[in-house]
Amino acid sequence: MAPIDPHSFTDSSHPLTTHVSLSLYLDFNASTIHASALLTLSSPFSGNLSLDSRSISIKSILDPQTLTPLPHSVSSSPDPIKGSEVVVVLTGQSQILILYSTSPSASALQWLSPLQTFSKTHPYVYTQCQAIHARSIFPCQDTPAARIRYDVVMNVPSSLSAVMSARHVRRRLPVLEEAKHLDVLSSVVWCAEDRVVEEFVMEQPIPPYLFAFAVGELGFREVGPRTRVYAESAAGDVLDAAALEFAGTEEMIKQGEKLFGDYEWERFDLLVLPPSFPYGGMENPRMVFLTPTVIKGDASGGQVVAHELAHSWTGNLITNINNEHFWLNEGFTTYAERRIVEVVQGADIATLNMGIGWRGLNDEMERFKDNLEFTKLKNKQEGVNPDDVYSQVPYEKGFQFVLRIERQVGRTAFDEFLKKYIATFKFKSIDTDTFLNFLKANIPGIEKEINLQLWTEGVGIPEDAYEPVSAIYTKIISLAEEFKQGKMPSEDEVAEWKGQEWELYLENLPKSCEPSQVVALDKRYRLAESKDYEVKVSFLKLAISSKMLYLRTLFTALAQTGGTEEKQLAKQIFAEARETYHPIAQGVVESILSKYI
Ligand code: BES
Ligand code: ZN
Repeated sequence: MAPIDPHSFTDSSHPLTTHVSLSLYLDFNASTIHASALLTLSSPFSGNLSLDSRSISIKSILDPQTLTPLPHSVSSSPDPIKGSEVVVVLTGQSQILILYSTSPSASALQWLSPLQTFSKTHPYVYTQCQAIHARSIFPCQDTPAARIRYDVVMNVPSSLSAVMSARHVRRRLPVLEEAKHLDVLSSVVWCAEDRVVEEFVMEQPIPPYLFAFAVGELGFREVGPRTRVYAESAAGDVLDAAALEFAGTEEMIKQGEKLFGDYEWERFDLLVLPPSFPYGGMENPRMVFLTPTVIKGDASGGQVVAHELAHSWTGNLITNINNEHFWLNEGFTTYAERRIVEVVQGADIATLNMGIGWRGLNDEMERFKDNLEFTKLKNKQEGVNPDDVYSQVPYEKGFQFVLRIERQVGRTAFDEFLKKYIATFKFKSIDTDTFLNFLKANIPGIEKEINLQLWTEGVGIPEDAYEPVSAIYTKIISLAEEFKQGKMPSEDEVAEWKGQEWELYLENLPKSCEPSQVVALDKRYRLAESKDYEVKVSFLKLAISSKMLYLRTLFTALAQTGGTEEKQLAKQIFAEARETYHPIAQGVVESILSKYI
């Protein structure tokens, strides 16, 4: 009996779940899902089977063959990170049927009232399961060590439609028969006139953190042979702008296939979410979720799409076995993203991105100077909430490690190695050692050339990391330096600048510039009004003389480095805006405020 994942109650001696059938009734008035989950294990089991859950209320657990109740218990006080352990007593069964309801505060779900949407007339709900939130939607072995196929029958208001990171099978009328397991609901409610059922099936096995859906009044535009972009249909302008912004997606998929092998997920759709979506992008398979701030009108949202697309190979095909090996997902993906960007946007932009990443990595070393564990690629996360230690380290130090290997063996050999790595471990979940062993077996002697242990287990940035040399980067840094002498870049010099260039410039200005200089800069370039949120935030950061990103950034700036007034302001802003934030964002801001105030 041993845990296999510091963030899950799943036990190493138990069979893992291979299939889940979900029946979901979405009650928008109560922000609740009434549901049944039929879990299938890889083999029959006798004993106490452990599952993860978070703020879920279980009505009953049954043997689906006999419909007799199975004895079970739910831990009385939830673990602050892992949630509540559900223990089911099995006597040779390989299937369990769980009848339950979710809570309005389910950490994976954001329920938006009509007023919080673009249309202002229809409600909306969407999921974000990474890192450990799938357990708030259905009880499961919520560890990426498990890979599940699933099917879903989702009962929603007929004015709305549902999308999932799965194949859409059909939209149809509800049937009396199928309500029988949902004992909290009468079949009258299930089959009410204003309800419809959407069916989905996911044939490719995925780790639970890639389970995803959204329900709202959705529309779409075609952008390629296997790509549509979805958003609220009332947001017609958003859809049109998104279709333009992402017109190059098919080209990216083709380049990805050339570099990393077949695209195994059939479709690559994009969903543009409401503004409260807490990430830039999320690599949900078959349908990537994106923040609306990626639509900037200058095709630069392409970088986020390249990143989430790259996960189709690194992360979704080969998955980290648990969050302690998260760099296997994000480091490889950052490398793969830059390879795609290099082909479709050019080497200059790819190198600029490397330069920005390098700077971000160096900043993180400062952030973690009293907590060096999180400067390691492979790190210990027992008792640690992965949302709290989210950083650039797995991305950029991971990228540097992958690049270090590429530089050692040369591109041609490395490309061949990467393809073989992906083909060997596709649809598997692996740890750092599995990667290192494969590396050593396929590139004999590599351990004599690169200190693999230092790279994966050591703190800080190894000496043999590569400091990128980007002409654009160097130029922008020197312009930023000149700001000290009161010089601003000319119209000509900034003519080609997109969001990233501005961001880099702003981030490199002296932290203690005169308010008058900041005002002058804004007057000339109207940065506080930029449509590009990255630029706007960089500018605002400069204005409050600090360094970070969006909510995390701004709240840490106010709460940590601010005086009493700023701290008070942070509390006030949060109190007012809390309800509009995603539950994950709420948690992150709460922990920032409790740390510094
Ligand atoms: N998988 C991540 C997002 C994530 C990580 C969600 C950890 C929850 C926990 C996604 O692929 C990602 O890295 N998104 C980036 C954008 C990207 C261009 C670097 C983001 O949202 O900032
Ligand atoms: Zn990523």
